[in-house]
Amino acid sequence: MARTGTQLSASEIKKALVRQIERYEEELQAEEIGEVLQVSDGVARIWGLGSAMYNEMLEIESGETGETVVALAANLEEDNIGAIVLGDYLHLKEGDSVRRTGQVLSVPVGSELVGRVVNPLGEPLDGKGPIECKQRMRVERKAPGIVYRRPVKEPLQTGLKAIDSMTPIGRGQRELIIGDRSTGKTAIAVDTIINQKGGDVICVYVGIGQKASTIASLLDRLEREGAMEHSIVVAANASDPATLQFVAPYCGCTMAEYFMYKEGRHTLCVYDDLSKQAQAYRQLSLVLRRPPGREAYPGDIFYNHSRLLERAAKITEDAEIIKGHLEIEKTGGSLTALPIIETQAGDVAAYIPTNVISITDGQIYLENDLFYAGVRPAMNVGISVSRVGGSAQLKAMRQVAGRLRLDLAQYRELEAFAQFAAELDTATQKQLARGERMVEVLKQGQYQPLPVEHQVMVIYAGTNGHLDDVEVADIKGWEAEFHSFMKASHPEVGQAIRGERQISEETEARLKKAIEEFKEQFFARKRRATATPAVQPAEAEITTQ
Ligand SMILES: Nc1ncnc2c1ncn2[C@@H]1O[C@H](COP(=O)(O)OP(=O)(O)O)[C@@H](O)[C@H]1O
Ligand SMILES: [Mg+2]
Repeated sequence: MARTGTQLSASEIKKALVRQIERYEEELQAEEIGEVLQVSDGVARIWGLGSAMYNEMLEIESGETGETVVALAANLEEDNIGAIVLGDYLHLKEGDSVRRTGQVLSVPVGSELVGRVVNPLGEPLDGKGPIECKQRMRVERKAPGIVYRRPVKEPLQTGLKAIDSMTPIGRGQRELIIGDRSTGKTAIAVDTIINQKGGDVICVYVGIGQKASTIASLLDRLEREGAMEHSIVVAANASDPATLQFVAPYCGCTMAEYFMYKEGRHTLCVYDDLSKQAQAYRQLSLVLRRPPGREAYPGDIFYNHSRLLERAAKITEDAEIIKGHLEIEKTGGSLTALPIIETQAGDVAAYIPTNVISITDGQIYLENDLFYAGVRPAMNVGISVSRVGGSAQLKAMRQVAGRLRLDLAQYRELEAFAQFAAELDTATQKQLARGERMVEVLKQGQYQPLPVEHQVMVIYAGTNGHLDDVEVADIKGWEAEFHSFMKASHPEVGQAIRGERQISEETEARLKKAIEEFKEQFFARKRRATATPAVQPAEAEITTQ
């Protein structure tokens, strides 16, 4: 064998390596600077960056203004790159120089962002000065694998009776809020954020393709309710480039993931809404000349949403297991996702709605008809579900609300039927009366989230027939007074429910007694009220019957 011929001395190896390294640097330098060929609709064609990575941040310097804009390498083609410009592309021109950064897209992360309004790149939009984050995290990230997760088991209280009782949401779950325009979708998400006040959940609200004025009034509300103390608002408005609208949810998700991965905290992400994000992505893809598929959306639109929503997770509590993960530093964190989808004329069978329904763990379906009939939140109980939240629901709530969904569904059926039937038997009448009252109990105004123990108490009263003799028109007033009464006169009942997480026999007996006591007071007050304008007592008596 020609051993001697192939053997290299140490110095020869060194020389060869040094030569390699030198040549490598030469190549890199020759390719570092590229040039813009063309800019249209937020997409820049770039020439001369043959070694750029997919999703790498490129810096384009505008020859006109001298400002640098970040673009994302989205299409790596043979002789050019299609890059989506994350910022103002109107000043960019053919011939502007482009520099590689060697970094894939990342955003600043950390608690410095809490209380702030930022664009998807983490730049402040609220005029409260610069944000000095110490860390950055990559925006595209693989969702944690099954080994690092554990099943959803803690509730994420929305504060809304209809949701917490019938479609409970667990921490780490993905629950879709779907409905037409103006059916109260945003309202549910915002109430949920407000309800986390004083709790341990960091909320990230991502506004996509909305009017700047809508975001401004939402912000004003969150501030007034003291909810910005635990929230970050990420906004890519309708007037912003489609590119920013497209990346916004991933950026917001990353900001939340920091708290889940690095601090082991609970987080909530609202994506309002993903229909607009899909439209932005469609626009970009068409400009990038990716082939259009169904409804002209690109073929990977499903992947677009699934890789975002997969990142919702409940991280394991086992410290040994997370040692195997490069990014998870603390155990037990969670990211709950509330994506929102806007339908057209209630069409849930369209492309994007069906996609997102299939990716999430349940949906809260809001209906126009109910909304205008005054049933708000306008949740259609029949087709709204939460596939995993039940196991996370407070046992006390399960105890009182077990039959609620079924009862309401039956009521809706009977109600339709009763419109035609002249005479109804007493059992049916009773069922109708109960249903009417439960619908009334589940109505809830905006910005009035209710602590879970109070939800349990009033639903208990309803499902156990204590409201059957209260006029439907009086239910709202009854409920408001009942909550103050329970707080003032029997705080121990609420405390017991919250503390024990269930209704023990003892608590139930106390609750029942308290309800009876309150009802007596309520009816007495009502009799007095109707009796006061006692000009014609006879008439007054008739009206109370
Ligand atoms: N529970 C509610 N009670 C009363 N008004 C509500 C309720 N939920 C929503 N609204 C009102 O309905 C309108 C539409 O709500 P919004 O959440 O903006 O709808 P969407 O996000 O579906 O377009 C808003 O003016 C809002 O104030
Ligand atoms: Mg909305």
